[in-house]
Amino acid sequence: MRLILTTSRGIEDLASAEVESLLSELGVPFRVEEKPLGIEGRLLAEIGEAFYTDEKGRKRELEVATLLNERSRLLHRVMIEIASERFEGIQEERGGDALKRIYDFVSGLPVERYIKISESFAVRPFRKGEHTITSLDISRTVGSAIYDRLSRFGRPKVNLDHPAVIFRAELIGESFFLGIDTTGDSSLHKRPWRVYDHPAHLKASIANAMIELAGLDGGSVIDPMCGSGTILIELALRSYGGKIAGIEKYMKHLKGARMNALAAGVLDRIEFIHGDSTKLSKYVNSVDFAISNLPYGLKIGRKSAIPKLYMEFFSELAKVLEKRGVFITTEKRAIERTITENGFEIRHHRLIGHGGLMVHLYVIE
Ligand SMILES: C[S@@+](CC[C@H](N)C(=O)[O-])C[C@H]1O[C@@H](n2cnc3c(N)ncnc32)[C@H](O)[C@@H]1O
Repeated sequence: MRLILTTSRGIEDLASAEVESLLSELGVPFRVEEKPLGIEGRLLAEIGEAFYTDEKGRKRELEVATLLNERSRLLHRVMIEIASERFEGIQEERGGDALKRIYDFVSGLPVERYIKISESFAVRPFRKGEHTITSLDISRTVGSAIYDRLSRFGRPKVNLDHPAVIFRAELIGESFFLGIDTTGDSSLHKRPWRVYDHPAHLKASIANAMIELAGLDGGSVIDPMCGSGTILIELALRSYGGKIAGIEKYMKHLKGARMNALAAGVLDRIEFIHGDSTKLSKYVNSVDFAISNLPYGLKIGRKSAIPKLYMEFFSELAKVLEKRGVFITTEKRAIERTITENGFEIRHHRLIGHGGLMVHLYVIE
């Protein structure tokens, strides 16, 4: 079986390591490829047959997709691959020609292997890049190709609102992926615990990437601008043994963070402090790790306030941070200047896709 897995751009290596560790636990043979067809934010996992013996001694197939949906902290979607194909030149083709090519290709795929004729289906599209066709065109065309093919075996059922089987068709530049979306309509990064929606909240998958890159050793962790608490809650859900604390300036967000932590069942694991992190040393004498996505200019209106805020915060951080910090921002110039001026060194830098933006991640010591 081959699975197409999706995650944020820029964290494919961490998602791949997580998948490898989950699959190793099962003891099944596998191979994980990052960026299949050169596409960022995608992994291809080739998995050998995996069986277990049930209580009645029957041999049963292991549901690897279900395991990844349940256990992964870095993936967004788990799809059973039907096809991965490169359509050279499709971006320049006229709309009708591009759609005919997609229709002809999908009509030749054995989709009947992935669905019972009695089951209803829908096609969910994803499109990225410059094309002459829209996402809606893709879902309609792929939908009719699947419908026409299944009609050979009976009367197919389409249900756009509550389908039993979701086909996902992705056109990213020239690359086309078709799969069965085992995750469903809500991406895995949308955590069920999020009862308070902060306007600039971090994707849970990226929060976990930051946690991975922090190289935590059981020492104390703080998110000094914790917003709705994403990083802290995800950390507590990983059964982290060390002390976990967060600071937030606005009561509204802090209350929201507490509500989220309560919903996640980890409120007793996190100390939430109402405060101003430009006075960090007022609240903590020393902390081993700091992990935070800092306010960006885009989200807080007055862009000129950012360098000043970063400078005040990092000079305080220098007084209390013992080991390592992991930060995300779009403000490359402002953060790099303030990191070095406050005596820190950048140990790692990478770009990560977050909500249509590329954000800079820094690991500093
Ligand atoms: C980008 S958001 C963090 C979002 C958070 N990671 C989440 O997922 O909800 C930055 C947060 O920093 C807070 N903030 C800004 N200045 C602050 C300061 N001086 N001290 C503490 N918090 C501050 C903002 O109110 C905002 O909630």
